[in-house]
Amino acid sequence: MLTPLIPQTGLSLLMEKQTEMSAFAKPSIPVAKPYFGEAEEQAIIQVLRSGWVTQGPLVAEFEQSFAKYVGAKHAIAVSSCTTALHLCLYALGIGPGDEVICPSYSFIATANVIVHCGAQPIFVDIDSQTYNLDPALIPGAITSRTKAILPVHQVGIPAPMQEILAVARHYNLPVIEDAACAIGSHYCGELIGKPIGVVACFSFHPRKIMTTGDGGMITTNDDELAARLKRLRQHAMSTSDMVRHSASRVVFETYNEVGYNYRMTDIQAAIGIEQLNRLPDFLAKRRMQAVRYTEAFSQEEWLEPPFVPEYATPNFQSYILKIKSPVPNMRDKLMDDLLRRGIATRRGVICIHREKAYISQKLQWPLSESELATDTTITLPLYHTMTIEEQDTVISSIIEMGRTI
Ligand SMILES: Cc1ncc(COP(=O)(O)O)c(C=O)c1O
Repeated sequence: MLTPLIPQTGLSLLMEKQTEMSAFAKPSIPVAKPYFGEAEEQAIIQVLRSGWVTQGPLVAEFEQSFAKYVGAKHAIAVSSCTTALHLCLYALGIGPGDEVICPSYSFIATANVIVHCGAQPIFVDIDSQTYNLDPALIPGAITSRTKAILPVHQVGIPAPMQEILAVARHYNLPVIEDAACAIGSHYCGELIGKPIGVVACFSFHPRKIMTTGDGGMITTNDDELAARLKRLRQHAMSTSDMVRHSASRVVFETYNEVGYNYRMTDIQAAIGIEQLNRLPDFLAKRRMQAVRYTEAFSQEEWLEPPFVPEYATPNFQSYILKIKSPVPNMRDKLMDDLLRRGIATRRGVICIHREKAYISQKLQWPLSESELATDTTITLPLYHTMTIEEQDTVISSIIEMGRTI
């Protein structure tokens, strides 16, 4: 019997610094919790004993399994979704003076990767129901400097890709899918990651349904692009370490362009392989939990459960509830009250354009739906090991508070 290497409640997200925490009870129901078992522990030990701990055989195996699962020709493992997105933008030639269309209603990395390329994010408002880019607003944002469209499958609800692709084709622009939260979500019957755009980029941060601690994956059907991305993630080295180590003659590598170190380790990949095996289970459980939440909250006039478009089967990476109450700051009061009862929540998703890092960027049009969504939504606890009792506590606490606040 192994001594557990990883406490079930571990990892950085649970240690998030909460400055006002002292005023509240330590949450006994977290907003998210990664799940690991003995398979992951054994897999890590095997890697350590093998002596090959980065960008090796397990990374290759994880890539193959991931590509097969989503139905893509290639999967390229990297260190995070941020590095995945940056590498794709760079490989597609996005640079200084260029503009990339994306939502403001997203995690800040969506815009940061554009800035990392020296380009400018052009924020387009979202649809009020799906919280994804509103395709009707994209043409109005296109200029001669626009070089790509970067839609986000926000919290795992797929963006309306057919409409976005129609605009992209009309203006001959590549589409880079920010699929950080979308592993296991379906768009029109196909898994996200079977590329709709040129590339799709995933995150394996512990807040995501499957995790490798940190990590990312790019999927694409483009052979040339895949080969270049594989070089670029490893300093643009012409030959991989695996090829060099298995060669019967000495191989000297070359560096034909400037690359990055965005490698995934074999320790991460070993965990990823096991998490991918567990994914169907993770998804089934989350979908069941989402149904329970929706059944309970649909009865409440002041609450709006997440909208599921006809074309989508979401993974419920997060369960985002909209608070429609006319009481001022009702969402924030609710979050405080829940925390006092030991229930952790987060606001839905930030508006990037309101953050200090982006506030100097002059807006060309209002982003009112994005702002409304940021101000009125709340992310509820949802994780694989959440019990019916824990979920019932969350449900009854919210409903009760709605009656008293
Ligand atoms: C929409 C979106 N894009 C990008 C990222 C960045 O992912 P990572 O933390 O793996 O770099 C996240 C992370 O939460 C995200 O939600």
